[in-house]
Amino acid sequence: MAEEGVASAPRGRVLVVGAGQMGGGIAQTAAQAGYEVDVVDVDRGRLDAGLGAVERSLERLVARGELSAEEAKAARGRLHPTLDLGAAAATAAVAVEAVSERYDLKAEIFRTLGEAAPPAAILASNTSSISITRLGAASGRPAQVVGVHFMNPVPRMRLVELVRGMATSDEVFRAADAFARALGKVPIAVRDFPGFVSNRVLMPMINEAVACLAEGVADAEAIDGVMTLGMNHPMGPLRLADLIGLDTCLAILEVLYAELGDPRYRPTPLLRKYVEAGYLGRKSGRGFYDYGGGGA
Ligand code: CAA
Repeated sequence: MAEEGVASAPRGRVLVVGAGQMGGGIAQTAAQAGYEVDVVDVDRGRLDAGLGAVERSLERLVARGELSAEEAKAARGRLHPTLDLGAAAATAAVAVEAVSERYDLKAEIFRTLGEAAPPAAILASNTSSISITRLGAASGRPAQVVGVHFMNPVPRMRLVELVRGMATSDEVFRAADAFARALGKVPIAVRDFPGFVSNRVLMPMINEAVACLAEGVADAEAIDGVMTLGMNHPMGPLRLADLIGLDTCLAILEVLYAELGDPRYRPTPLLRKYVEAGYLGRKSGRGFYDYGGGGA
């Protein structure tokens, strides 16, 4: 359950930093909820690819009857791609950072947000494993920084893990909770520990599935079949790893292993090998399964 106390959802513009799988999904969801959304990335190609994926996601929701064509058109009109992080930060009521799981990259963005965003802006990170407290310190305004961890695919998954850093203010935490609810999500509050709850539980399962594959216990289809048919998971752990991105899974395991220091989080060498080969999952066309892309 989220914290006591009711806050109204922030009004004003939303900024999403990073137009990848997660950033695109967050931007889409905020636009569907009626927010004007600035989407920032480092080059035009990434912005175009991100907005292309949002377009396909909106079409899918319309085809499934979960969204009307008019609502999809209105959401599209609320998305504003830009390369200028500083300018977009200056007008943001809520900024959500959703770039790759690299501390140095995220810290640089939080420095910029700390300098450029309005004093009351919520500075949120979608990180799946990096310390919110540490990102707060990098921003220079740690009271404003909070974790809002969305799940993939964002438009379909209801959970937002809401992470309170050591210095996050109550006001900001409650406003982030209200923001997640305004996006139609169910926030659950967790403390700032490596991997929070979601990835501390999920990643060892994925890692163990990769170990089963590496040791020849069964092939990928069989491992996933055991978990879908036997445990009623909507998709098996290897197919899910392909959806999340094998590079992301590896990065999260590295953080868990380094920060908790327990060998149970050690990435299975086969996972590293796939990443080194450029087999990153759906996004590169090949991971544990072949999606017709052949890898990087
Ligand atoms: N936008 C983008 N992608 C979408 C989507 C949308 N609106 N709706 C579905 N998808 C994706 C699916 O991944 C899949 O892709 P392809 O069409 O290219 O094969 C496809 O769309 C399947 O969608 P369906 O609607 O046909 O399938 P479904 O109704 O059975 O549901 C699912 C798909 C919701 C993804 C379901 O399989 C599921 O819940 N899977 C588990 C997802 C999960 O565990 N997510 C959490 C991952 S952990 C995480 O995100 C945190 C982290 O830090 C790593």
